[in-house]
Amino acid sequence: MEKYAIIGHPVGHSLSPAMHNAAFAEIGLDADYRAFDVEPGNLESFMEGLAKELNGFNVTVPYKSAVADYLDQLDVGAATAGSVNTVKRMDDGSSQGYSTDGYGLEKALEESFGVKVAGKNFLVLGAGGAARAACFHLLASSAASVSIANRTFNKAEALADELKRQFPIASVEAAPASNSEKLANLVERADVLVQSTSLGLRPDDPSPFPKELLRADMPVFDMIYKRTRLIEDAGKAGALAANGIEMLVHQGAKSFEIWTGKNAPVATMRRVVENALAKMK
Ligand code: ATR
Repeated sequence: MEKYAIIGHPVGHSLSPAMHNAAFAEIGLDADYRAFDVEPGNLESFMEGLAKELNGFNVTVPYKSAVADYLDQLDVGAATAGSVNTVKRMDDGSSQGYSTDGYGLEKALEESFGVKVAGKNFLVLGAGGAARAACFHLLASSAASVSIANRTFNKAEALADELKRQFPIASVEAAPASNSEKLANLVERADVLVQSTSLGLRPDDPSPFPKELLRADMPVFDMIYKRTRLIEDAGKAGALAANGIEMLVHQGAKSFEIWTGKNAPVATMRRVVENALAKMK
């Protein structure tokens, strides 16, 4: 039997085990996928022990950047973004790291809004790990510009500086999320708004974005897997809006394809995720 997993902390509520086990069953692969909660400080012992018994695994918060130090090779996307969410064990025992989050976002934008990344202007809310993977992928996929608005301005600036170094011909800007004048400027040229902060995870969270700046012709993609206040505001403004389910499904589908070399049963994966989320309500 092949063995797969997701590691993170916390990881108990991850939807990936249900999604991947259903996908393995659908293509008739004898494989098992489980969640391992790796306590802070235990990443090294995991990588030197259990990880070697796995054919592959996903990596989530807070190890997407730290895991790279333990891998033999990184593909170009993972190396430039400094973020790994998929590890594959090769036949010779060596390990390869990939980042499929950005691909997941790109597919989700295409399927939810019909938006192609190349040539478009993005306004990204947040400057953490999720924003980082998104921004690197958007620019690597020829986005015209990426603007980053974050509560902590110096984190947005630091990410923008790194992006400018990697993508010198792209236009990259940073802004404090509290500066509504500056935000209004960035919105003017934005084709798509991408929300990557953790605001919206809790039911009473406010929206991370002023509703008066939403526009009917600016689709809103919120990486959170539910109907957030921002998604509601976007709907009221007449804009297309989508939550993070499609991104989760497509990053998972890409991991599946990296591991198995087979087409992922995307419809089954989406159904399992939607059913699991409905049960959580
Ligand atoms: P992830 O890997 O999910 O991106 P992270 O790296 O911890 O998680 O980043 C969390 C992001 O959500 C950051 O952009 C954070 O803003 P700060 O850099 O100012 O901390 C943002 N965030 C979290 N809580 C927030 C809140 N209450 N209001 C606004 N932004 C928030």
